[in-house]
Amino acid sequence: MTRCVRLPDGTEVPALGQGTWHMGESARAAEQEVAALKLGIELGMTLIDTAEMYGNGRAEELVAEATAGKRDELFIVSKVYPHNASRAGVPAACERSLKRLRTDRIDLYLLHWRGSHPLAETVEAFEALKAAGKIRYWGVSNFDTKDMLELAKLPHGDACAANQVLYHPDTRGIEFDLLPWCTRVGMPVMAYSPVGGQGGPLLRSPALTAVAKRHDATPAQVAIAWGMRHGTVISIPKASNEAHVRENAAAGEISLTAEDLAEIDARHPPPRRKQGLDIL
Ligand SMILES: NC(=O)c1ccc[n+]([C@@H]2O[C@H](COP(=O)([O-])OP(=O)(O)OC[C@H]3O[C@@H](n4cnc5c(N)ncnc54)[C@H](OP(=O)(O)O)[C@@H]3O)[C@@H](O)[C@H]2O)c1
Repeated sequence: MTRCVRLPDGTEVPALGQGTWHMGESARAAEQEVAALKLGIELGMTLIDTAEMYGNGRAEELVAEATAGKRDELFIVSKVYPHNASRAGVPAACERSLKRLRTDRIDLYLLHWRGSHPLAETVEAFEALKAAGKIRYWGVSNFDTKDMLELAKLPHGDACAANQVLYHPDTRGIEFDLLPWCTRVGMPVMAYSPVGGQGGPLLRSPALTAVAKRHDATPAQVAIAWGMRHGTVISIPKASNEAHVRENAAAGEISLTAEDLAEIDARHPPPRRKQGLDIL
């Protein structure tokens, strides 16, 4: 059964999706990347996270190839560059993304990180896109608690549907205040780099390895299940390798026990005080 997370308006979206950073960067890898995304969709990972930045727009084109004929089953997330996040820049960037994605709407459109354009202008532009039916929801990425508080005070700022941030066992700062704040207002957090990113050391963690053994799983699967344990966090691992896709799709079925979580805490301790948001 597909696990879901609720958006602030109560709409359910898949709790486990697929990332696409670094896809579309090499022509040789494109076929494998499209096949990986297609397999992930077949296995139930129907939320796809992309951005105008990834592969210079090419990742969105690969998403279009992988999702052709299945648009209505999918929840597509894309992101606007901060330098495009002006009143006129947002709709223009969105049109370009829609064209590359070969669709008439983006389900969730995020500001990739904070830039120099006033937030109020970006929100106004997002709301106009929503009214025009070009996007269903908008949100932010790489926003710390103080950014969320500032956003919430703006006109329509409370319409923000999600905040996408770095979150895995080696970077847990959000558990101190950002995640509790988002949970309190009913806003999901999207955990990026949930298996520790490309070539990261997380998957060699002795704690994850020991827990994985007990579940007949892999450390990557444990990392994904760990991120999803709150019920309000959406995990978006990226995998171009078919075996990784299969593993990741199955990770949504793993329920970690109190003993598992304690073992992970001992090696990857939760924050005791406010930490600035880690960003990739
Ligand atoms: N908003 C932001 O600023 C931001 C920043 C970073 C990422 N993101 C989003 O979040 C997504 C995920 O983050 P990420 O790509 O940085 O890191 P990630 O998903 O934690 O890690 C991706 C890397 O892990 C490998 N991998 C995936 N599944 C695996 C498994 N089961 N076992 C072993 N290795 C596995 C992948 O290899 P293969 O590809 O070879 O399978 C790839 O090298 C991105 O793709 C992007 O959509 C957003």
